[in-house]
Amino acid sequence: MSNTNFTGKGPVTNEAKRRITIFDTTLRDGEQAPGAALQFEQKLLLADKLVRLGVDVLEPGFPVSSPGEFEAVQRISRLYPQIEVCGFARAVRGDIDAAVKATADAEKRRIHLFISASDIHLTHQLRMKRAEVKQRAREMVAYARQFVDCVEFSAMDATRADQSYLAELVEAAIEEGAGIINLPDTVGYAMPHEFGEMFRFVRREARGAENVCFSAHCHNDLGLAVANSLAAIEAGANQIEVTVNGVGERTGNCALEELVMALDTRKDYWQIETNVQMEHLYDVSRSVSRMMHMPIAFNKPVVGRNAFQHESGIHQDGLLKNRNTYEIMDPVRLGIPHELIVLGKHSGRHAIKHKVSQYGIELNAEQLNDVYDRFKQFADNQKVVTDQQLLTCVGEALDQEWGRFKLVDVQVVAGSSRARVASVTIFNIHEQTEHTYAGIGAGPVEALIRAMQQAHGNEISFEDLELHSLTSGEEAVGEAAVTVQVDGHSYRGTAAHCDIMLAIAEAYMAACNQAWSSSGLSDSEEADTQKSAVQG
Ligand code: KIV
Ligand code: ZN
Repeated sequence: MSNTNFTGKGPVTNEAKRRITIFDTTLRDGEQAPGAALQFEQKLLLADKLVRLGVDVLEPGFPVSSPGEFEAVQRISRLYPQIEVCGFARAVRGDIDAAVKATADAEKRRIHLFISASDIHLTHQLRMKRAEVKQRAREMVAYARQFVDCVEFSAMDATRADQSYLAELVEAAIEEGAGIINLPDTVGYAMPHEFGEMFRFVRREARGAENVCFSAHCHNDLGLAVANSLAAIEAGANQIEVTVNGVGERTGNCALEELVMALDTRKDYWQIETNVQMEHLYDVSRSVSRMMHMPIAFNKPVVGRNAFQHESGIHQDGLLKNRNTYEIMDPVRLGIPHELIVLGKHSGRHAIKHKVSQYGIELNAEQLNDVYDRFKQFADNQKVVTDQQLLTCVGEALDQEWGRFKLVDVQVVAGSSRARVASVTIFNIHEQTEHTYAGIGAGPVEALIRAMQQAHGNEISFEDLELHSLTSGEEAVGEAAVTVQVDGHSYRGTAAHCDIMLAIAEAYMAACNQAWSSSGLSDSEEADTQKSAVQG
């Protein structure tokens, strides 16, 4: 048994903390999400990040399904002696042979084989009788056990199976040497109390259950995958199968980050540990989203853009006084470069004062009132107020230019045959000088970013660009958020415009203005920057 401290007595015991095994199937079940297929190199890259994140078991693919999948599982098996690598297989010899072969070089390995348990699957898909399925399960577990010590048996569609038959099937697998029993909610059908009850029932009824580890594998069709996984933990499961961002078949699987943060945030209740290193959560989440082309919903728990952003004045006021007033997790611990305050029509004076101070602007009470009045008039018609727009209000109220640099002009050439070229003209407010910089790239965005990089020199490095459409239709307004870095500190600027290139350039400028005013970059560095101007 690969798990420790198996108490199964439910939360809040006085015993040593229980440890839950995190079984990551982002690269297998996660990749089964429509359109999420990964290239070989991407799989390796994500495997590396998942290992760094601290998952205990990695299921990198389905070896029999294609030569590429086989090779990915084989390569990952060779690369990471520190974790258990799992080869996925149907309960057929060919699949098991491929999984055994692909994982042959792993330091720690497991074969994960499955067969359906519900009558719906038996009748309409497998066209087998219950007795036949049980016999097949026996034979295939025994077959796999000839090659490996650790066999996980999954009773697919367990939640819709006849529960007595399910217990019999599990008992047969245990008798043949399965050390881990996984009970999947394959179609995301169960309610949390039912799911927990299923674990209690099978653990009570199946002979030998006390000697094996129970695992939960939940799908999210009714949005209950995390709740069901927690119910399984409460009912004695010591392994939970998860995917990053909850990607997977249809609406996906139990989201790794949500489960881990539920256990961590409410450790007073759960008294449970995992090996996940939270500071890597955000990075892994972003990488999975990008590589699988699956954007993260703004309101997604833990890693969504809005998870740590606050727009209401009352909340912003509380947060600026003490984070704990409206946040239960610390974004810094999760590696999230967070911007606490998002300005919108509900924002108040505190938030405005805080935001402009990030640009090195201190407003007295009278100035703040003036900016606030202008801001409110403007904000009423906006979804969010970008930094650029706020700073325009500040400029009007103070009747002076703010920041270090001002964008004067942007030119971008797109097209299909020539290199994409961009140029930006920037006014240096301190020196009252104007310079133009150029960049080329594979696309117009890259060309524009290169031109902006030229303008700001090596001290400020480009980190990230997010683009969103704020409105729909032909006149859609695009919002750009650019993050730049100076000495490991991130600065994020936002801007919105119906010309998305202009929005990017302005957001970049806002981020750089913030960096210049907050990071203490010296004038000599600024002077160096000016030397790279292509035209004075
Ligand atoms: O959803 C499911 O039932 C599965 C198992 C085969 C583990 O992915
Ligand atoms: Zn699944």
